[in-house]
Amino acid sequence: MRKVYNFSPGPAMLPATVLERAREELRGWRSSGVSPMEMSHRGADFIGIAEKAEAGLRAALAVPTDYKILFLAGGATAQFGAAPMNLLRGKTKLAYVETGYWSRKAIEEAKLFADVDVAASSRDGGYATIPPRTSWRVDPAAAYLHYTANETIGGVEFHDTPQSDGLPLVADMSSNLLSRPIDVTRFGLIYASAQKNLGLAGLAVVIVRENLIGRPLPGTPSIFDYRRQADEGSMVNTPPTYAWYMAGLMLEWVAEQGGVEAIERRNIRKASRLYAAIDASSFYSNFIDPAVRSRMNAPFRLADASLDKTFLAAAAEAGLVSLEGHRSVGGMRASIYNAMPDEGVETLITFMRDFEKRWG
Ligand SMILES: Cc1ncc(COP(=O)(O)O)c(C=O)c1O
Repeated sequence: MRKVYNFSPGPAMLPATVLERAREELRGWRSSGVSPMEMSHRGADFIGIAEKAEAGLRAALAVPTDYKILFLAGGATAQFGAAPMNLLRGKTKLAYVETGYWSRKAIEEAKLFADVDVAASSRDGGYATIPPRTSWRVDPAAAYLHYTANETIGGVEFHDTPQSDGLPLVADMSSNLLSRPIDVTRFGLIYASAQKNLGLAGLAVVIVRENLIGRPLPGTPSIFDYRRQADEGSMVNTPPTYAWYMAGLMLEWVAEQGGVEAIERRNIRKASRLYAAIDASSFYSNFIDPAVRSRMNAPFRLADASLDKTFLAAAAEAGLVSLEGHRSVGGMRASIYNAMPDEGVETLITFMRDFEKRWG
């Protein structure tokens, strides 16, 4: 089979060793004779798999014991609603920072439950930066402050955890969880869909401080109630067992790489190489404030947009796939999550230089 580097924003590429292991265990997990897909979620084998995945995440991010970890269906989008349902706790206001497509989505969903105050927004500047923290106006009456740690479509990333004026801090880390160390104690709630750095679509992980849960909005369905899910081991209903199993394999892989510190070093190297190549050329451009460029998703444009289709076709021919930008932004986007090796980024850079020589 020819070598392909997959730059998909998600579902994204998985490490070859993880896929290989999944392939082997599909024939039969250990001596059980059944694949992880076919196990009862309440059986001892799956409970072992589930506990190991949770322990892996706890170890990777040093999650303290007063935080619950949940593995839930519905992706991050379900958490756009679950966050207000669980964390409003009698209040009626929420504060959100708007930095792009995904924070906008989170805001729209939160509006179903509360008054949403936008504490800061970069919409007027086309979401090309993050408003300086000093300009944020955080309503002290809000139940929490929410931000999107990495805007997967816009390519904007917070490189520091913002200070929250004493409110519980809530972060959507769908596209940068496990890409760097974080101090979990700074957060009330972290949620992330799994299909970037944690495996398969359909699953979200939730890391929530225990003293924030147990007072859901009246009418909250039981599957969205963090307290019930915590008490029942994320098994209020049948969880997405195979995605949970794959998350466990991804977490073992993270540990084998040397943990999130080592992964961060590689991610910095890959992203700097790619942005340096884009900046060195007048044929390609990235339009994001360099201070907040994402290490995970690098959008870029060709000076002549009429060459976009030619670029994508030639890239695919060279084994570089899924480079098309999101329809709302256009141009290109290279998603370079944890699983993308240095060689993938180097191959892309070489291809871009060759393409420029030919068409520039
Ligand atoms: C930052 C961010 N938040 C939320 C989502 C939504 O995740 P899901 O489609 O799994 O619900 C995505 C999906 O790409 C995302 O990138």
